[in-house]
Amino acid sequence: MELNVVRGIMGETSVPSSSTGKFQFGLLHRRWVPAFLSSYKTMFAVLWVVGLASVFVWQRGGVVEGIRTFRWGAPPGRAAPLLRMRVFNLTEFGGVGDGVAMNTGAFECAVAAIAALGGGQLNVEAGVWLTGPFNLTSHMTLFLAEGAVILGVEDETCWPLMPPLPSYGYGREHKGPRYGSLIHGQNLTDVVITGHNGTIDGQGKAWWTKYRQKVLNHTRGPLVQLMWSQNIVISNITLRNSPFWTLHPYDCKNVTIANLTILAPVYQAPNTDGIDPDSCENVLIENCYISVGDDGIAIKSGWDQYGIKYGRPSTNILIRNLVVRSNVSAGVSIGSEMSGGISNVTVENVVVWNSRRAVRIKTAAGRGAYIHNITFRNLIFDNVRVGIIIKTDYNEHPDEGFDPKAFPDINDISYTGIHGQRVRVPVRIQGSENIPVKGVSFRNMSVGITYKKKHIFQCAFVQGRVIGSIFPAPCKNLDRYDEAGHLVERSESQNMSDIDYDL
Ligand SMILES: *[C@@H]1O[C@H](CO)[C@@H](O)[C@H](O)[C@H]1NC(C)=O
Ligand SMILES: *[C@@H]1O[C@H](CO)[C@@H](O)[C@H](O)[C@H]1NC(C)=O
Ligand SMILES: *[C@@H]1O[C@H](CO)[C@@H](O)[C@H](O)[C@H]1NC(C)=O
Ligand SMILES: *[C@@H]1O[C@H](CO)[C@@H](O)[C@H](O)[C@H]1NC(C)=O
Ligand SMILES: *[C@@H]1O[C@H](CO)[C@@H](O)[C@H](O)[C@H]1NC(C)=O
Ligand SMILES: *[C@@H]1O[C@H](CO)[C@@H](O)[C@H](O)[C@H]1NC(C)=O
Ligand SMILES: *[C@@H]1O[C@H](CO)[C@@H](O)[C@H](O)[C@H]1NC(C)=O
Ligand SMILES: *[C@@H]1O[C@H](CO)[C@@H](O)[C@H](O)[C@H]1NC(C)=O
Ligand SMILES: *[C@@H]1O[C@H](CO)[C@@H](O)[C@H](O)[C@H]1NC(C)=O
Ligand SMILES: *[C@@H]1O[C@H](CO)[C@@H](O)[C@H](O)[C@H]1NC(C)=O
Ligand SMILES: *[C@@H]1O[C@H](CO)[C@@H](O)[C@H](O)[C@H]1NC(C)=O
Ligand SMILES: *[C@@H]1O[C@H](CO)[C@@H](O)[C@H](O)[C@H]1NC(C)=O
Repeated sequence: MELNVVRGIMGETSVPSSSTGKFQFGLLHRRWVPAFLSSYKTMFAVLWVVGLASVFVWQRGGVVEGIRTFRWGAPPGRAAPLLRMRVFNLTEFGGVGDGVAMNTGAFECAVAAIAALGGGQLNVEAGVWLTGPFNLTSHMTLFLAEGAVILGVEDETCWPLMPPLPSYGYGREHKGPRYGSLIHGQNLTDVVITGHNGTIDGQGKAWWTKYRQKVLNHTRGPLVQLMWSQNIVISNITLRNSPFWTLHPYDCKNVTIANLTILAPVYQAPNTDGIDPDSCENVLIENCYISVGDDGIAIKSGWDQYGIKYGRPSTNILIRNLVVRSNVSAGVSIGSEMSGGISNVTVENVVVWNSRRAVRIKTAAGRGAYIHNITFRNLIFDNVRVGIIIKTDYNEHPDEGFDPKAFPDINDISYTGIHGQRVRVPVRIQGSENIPVKGVSFRNMSVGITYKKKHIFQCAFVQGRVIGSIFPAPCKNLDRYDEAGHLVERSESQNMSDIDYDL
């Protein structure tokens, strides 16, 4: 019953199997015959098969059903490819993959050896490798074999404390230092973390429990964090149960994140965002399956006066071909920390299912900076409470030192090809007098509703336009154009407010 959208599309349309017979989607998912598809054009479905197949095709001989995988033809213990001149196994440094022995020392020795050689590859074989946090080095590939699990130690006293991120002022949860990440890197270049779908597991449950009991004295650490680094590739692995945000590239350039499975419980796993590009430039995120306890993806760039001072935007970001589930937050978010500015982001070919919200832009007075040139294209929502959200009063601040007159500028946000079913409120754009939302456009949108038929395209202080056929009927704040781009009706007032949180 779960991945309805994907199953529906896959079930309706036979994808030709490849010459080697590896992929046979046609065999699967036929039992859920989609009411969903009957309401949309077959063309669209076919497009989606092409778009989404890539999410699944990369796994050799496996097909996702929900989050379970059936494999065939993938021999266990595939040899690791040689990706660097020098290749090591963790066992050469005394590593023991029995789930009990601590491997922190082995990882540290391996990384030191690679650093001394100016680069190399570290293979982590099948097994469960318990470890405390460790640092990576430049020109390094960390390769996780099939069946390899790097398991983060639960005892927080093993986690080093690090200075707070400069653009956040202090730890996101507590003043003073924060816990580092399980796998960490700073000031690096050319780092690859990849594998045959091995796993990095943060054993976050212990952290989530302590967080809820308020016994932690420092902000929790991410699972993987790379700071001030460039030329990063993270692909072909599974990340699960992060203590905090799962994958956090901070002030990095040229980052490719692809073919990941990111998992955390969808409920009571606080702040387990999937991927948080933060003050990063030139980022590609593609072909990922994300189901977590907070935002699937959240693009950020620092917090209020600290982020304004640090002044490093997130820009040139392309996100495509994802299936995301976020029961408590949103599939893809921009903000709320965006005080270095966020621009030129494209989000396309994304399915958000069984989620509270689909795509959300969030900010507040005090953030300053801007959110410009954001393109959403070809999105499917299935069973989400609110589809598209822009919220300008996300009033969470690091301290009282923020400037209440630092209003962010929001302009040039487009939504094209937005479809879906079981969406209670398809659109809620809540600008304000001080933070009006400008340059919004909608084109080719049809989002089914099962709940109410009034006040479901909600707007306040919004300027922009709708082009062609839009369902549900757009709010009166927006100018209306026909498919050919001719003005049909100009809005009389952009400041009208029809926001209803009771729906
Ligand atoms: C992701 O998988 C696709 C398909 O197998 C492959 O072409 C691509 O190189 C992979 N991306 C990365 C960054 O490994
Ligand atoms: C990788 O492993 C995860 C967790 O077991 C699984 O859900 C996913 O389908 C696997 N992906 C591939 C490509 O085999
Ligand atoms: C590394 O591990 C692989 C697979 O387990 C094995 O074939 C290879 O001999 C090992 N290499 C070294 C140097 O230990
Ligand atoms: C990793 O390096 C950073 C920066 O030098 C340091 O603060 C941190 O303690 C190191 N982490 C570990 C686990 O050694
Ligand atoms: C790492 O990069 C940051 C930001 O550019 C810089 O402030 C810091 O001095 C660098 N650290 C090292 C050890 O190079
Ligand atoms: C937090 O600080 C208190 C008081 O210093 C201490 O008793 C407690 O053990 C600390 N908790 C953790 C998880 O470090
Ligand atoms: C970006 O990173 C990839 C992977 O490390 C590298 O191959 C490519 O040359 C980098 N591009 C630039 C412009 O540095
Ligand atoms: C990830 O897997 C795909 C498909 O097997 C492969 O083409 C790609 O090179 C792998 N990525 C890396 C960085 O090894
Ligand atoms: C989703 O989150 C709500 C709280 O927001 C919770 O009550 C519900 O049990 C969660 N659903 C699942 C399937 O975990
Ligand atoms: C916007 O970002 C895309 C990557 O998504 C990049 O190719 C393009 O050059 C960027 N545009 C500008 C004006 O920087
Ligand atoms: C806006 O985003 C689009 C799509 O990524 C890109 O082609 C264009 O160059 C961007 N324009 C600016 C001014 O950044
Ligand atoms: C909107 O949809 C129509 C028909 O489905 C298509 O012809 C047109 O190209 C689409 N426009 C855009 C901008 O995607």
